[in-house]
Amino acid sequence: MTDVLVLYYSRYGATAAMAQQIARGIGEIDGMQARLRTVPAVSTVCEATQDSIPEQGAPYVTLDDLRECAGLALGSPTRFGNMAAPLKYFIDTTSSLWLGAELAGKPAAVFTSTSSLHGGQETTLLSMMLPLLHHGMLMLGIPYSETDLLHTDAGGTPYGASHLAGTDSDKPLTAAEQRLCRALGKRLAETAHKLGD
Ligand SMILES: Cc1cc2nc3c(=O)[nH]c(=O)nc-3n(C[C@H](O)[C@H](O)[C@H](O)COP(=O)(O)O)c2cc1C
Repeated sequence: MTDVLVLYYSRYGATAAMAQQIARGIGEIDGMQARLRTVPAVSTVCEATQDSIPEQGAPYVTLDDLRECAGLALGSPTRFGNMAAPLKYFIDTTSSLWLGAELAGKPAAVFTSTSSLHGGQETTLLSMMLPLLHHGMLMLGIPYSETDLLHTDAGGTPYGASHLAGTDSDKPLTAAEQRLCRALGKRLAETAHKLGD
């Protein structure tokens, strides 16, 4: 089996729910499986440390996860129109991979969750692509042949998967949002598979 890394940060669970659907899409391609990983929260107190294993959910990511996987789905809640600091903090530790061009040529995709419909899904998705492009990754979006994109009244963009979680962060993924997450995961795994041939 070849792994595709699904790396995300999620405080309230919405981005984690999207990660599960993307993982399902990845698993639809023969020989491909998702490797789910997260990052620890960052602290305003520099000396504070966290256990190396999270209390629940996906394990914390390592640089080897990025090295070993054939592709990457990167997910973050939208924070002021941008990705969350814990994910950016981890990305800022990947210079050694960048120096060795170890991610260059691998396919990647992005996903996000917001509380409001016009609260910055697209800006977050586009800005999440920037460090991945610096790494030489091949960015994938969602094509409009996924016809859910034509009728969105919640999440769903050509730049990546998205979810409208609502003000209380408690809206479940709609059926269309789930389909688009799975389509993105499947497309990523399919591309990683073809590039690995
Ligand atoms: C510091 C902070 C900034 C946020 N900024 C935005 C924003 O710019 N636009 C938006 O729609 N939601 C914003 N939110 C809400 C989160 O994006 C939203 O609740 C998201 O669904 C949380 O995902 P999670 O359940 O995976 O943690 C913000 C939340 C926090 C805590």
